[in-house]
Amino acid sequence: MSDDATYTVGNQEYPLLEGTIGPKVVDIRALYKDTGMFTYDPGFKSTASCESGLTYIDGHEGVLLHRGYSIEDLSERSSFMETSYLLLNGELPTKFELDDFIYTITRHTMVHEQLKTLYNGFRRDAHPMAIMCGVVGGLSAFYHDSTDITDPEQRKIASHRLIAKMPTIAAMAYKYSIGQPFLYPDNDLSYTGNFLRMTFGVPAEEYDVNPVVERALDRIFILHADHEQNASTSTVRLAGSSGANPFACIAAGIACLWGPAHGGANEAALNMLHEIGHPDRIPEYIARAKDKDDPFRLMGFGHRVYKNYDPRASVMRKTVREVLTSLNVSNPVFDVALQLEEMALNDDYFIEKKLFPNVDFYSGIILSAIGFPTTMFTALFALARTVGWVAQWNEMISDPGQTIGRPRQLYTGPAARDYVPLENRG
Ligand code: SDX
Repeated sequence: MSDDATYTVGNQEYPLLEGTIGPKVVDIRALYKDTGMFTYDPGFKSTASCESGLTYIDGHEGVLLHRGYSIEDLSERSSFMETSYLLLNGELPTKFELDDFIYTITRHTMVHEQLKTLYNGFRRDAHPMAIMCGVVGGLSAFYHDSTDITDPEQRKIASHRLIAKMPTIAAMAYKYSIGQPFLYPDNDLSYTGNFLRMTFGVPAEEYDVNPVVERALDRIFILHADHEQNASTSTVRLAGSSGANPFACIAAGIACLWGPAHGGANEAALNMLHEIGHPDRIPEYIARAKDKDDPFRLMGFGHRVYKNYDPRASVMRKTVREVLTSLNVSNPVFDVALQLEEMALNDDYFIEKKLFPNVDFYSGIILSAIGFPTTMFTALFALARTVGWVAQWNEMISDPGQTIGRPRQLYTGPAARDYVPLENRG
């Protein structure tokens, strides 16, 4: 990983480390000790916070690999359970390994009966992400037998519990919001089919899983599974670096994902498309997005890493067509999205700033066509990203060199000064 190459900072030489592919890094761990100076990188635009073998992104080429396999291959040929196994274990499973993994996950999908009472503490109109933050954090109170993070077996059980229970918890959040009863998981269904039934089924009748919808949603889960050191993954890693239990760390990741600049963008993007309403109004919104005095941004556009088309958005756009055709749903919002993309990608502002549609631009159209309310979109993102968060957390905790994350700062507050008694103040 490191050869003799070095990088000079002042009169000090620092090792250049090279990964398998991607940019080299300057190992500046000794910089402060050597120079008494910090680096300064708010937003971490030039900072590699860790070493990882999980996911590789080339933002200029629009490449996304999970353990070396392209997102195009995985979304077309794999399943969310197989991709989850790959992220957790590093290799594609044999048939036995996959069947065994699915058997294990399936039998962790139920939640403790007491967990249901947590939902009653929320108002019925609570945002599902508020419920997810609370309930997932609350799992820490139920699984004391899998919170010793130094024990690989306990880490494995906690990881399986989190992956397995997220669909149940998310479906319960939806049911609670519409006043319908919770459904127990059905072990005869696939991971994604089970989630569809728990979400849209009712105790009064059988629920038939639509195979086209099941496949499309499973593909959407694959597209959201992991994405290098994004904001919510970095949050999970930082929380985990203190030794916090995995349930609390994932709850922290859910909280970060909720932001409209991150996972909340899928909900914001569909709301924006509905607000635009008609292709004739697109120029007005593109003008607003370009106006420095207007805080409006095209939601679902732009990315910190991708300065080319987000490969996930391409797969998502293809999937929209499949689902709308299969469900025989004509969706004027999709027409607005296609024309908005066309106009933006031919506009100098977006070309110059390399702003392309990201994973959140089209996902809401599919999720809405399937029947999810916009408030559930980010909860689905959290459901799918849980395997990525868990895999990144495991990778960090099992690194023998792992230490608590504790950034420093450029201090610009007042220098030391004497206290002024109240009677002497102006
Ligand atoms: C996700 O990191 C990940 O991997 C995240 C994610 C994952 O899988 O985990 O990929 C998921 O979060 C996708 C991104 C979803 N967010 C949105 O769609 C919200 C809209 N996009 C942005 O707010 C923005 O593009 C970010 C937050 C995504 C990226 O912001 P950066 O990298 O900090 O870039 P920036 O804000 O500095 O923007 C660069 C320029 C700015 O103009 P100038 O100040 O240079 O004049 O581009 C402009 C911005 O004003 N710009 C936009 C824009 N996004 C950036 N202008 C209009 N519309 C937009 N959407």
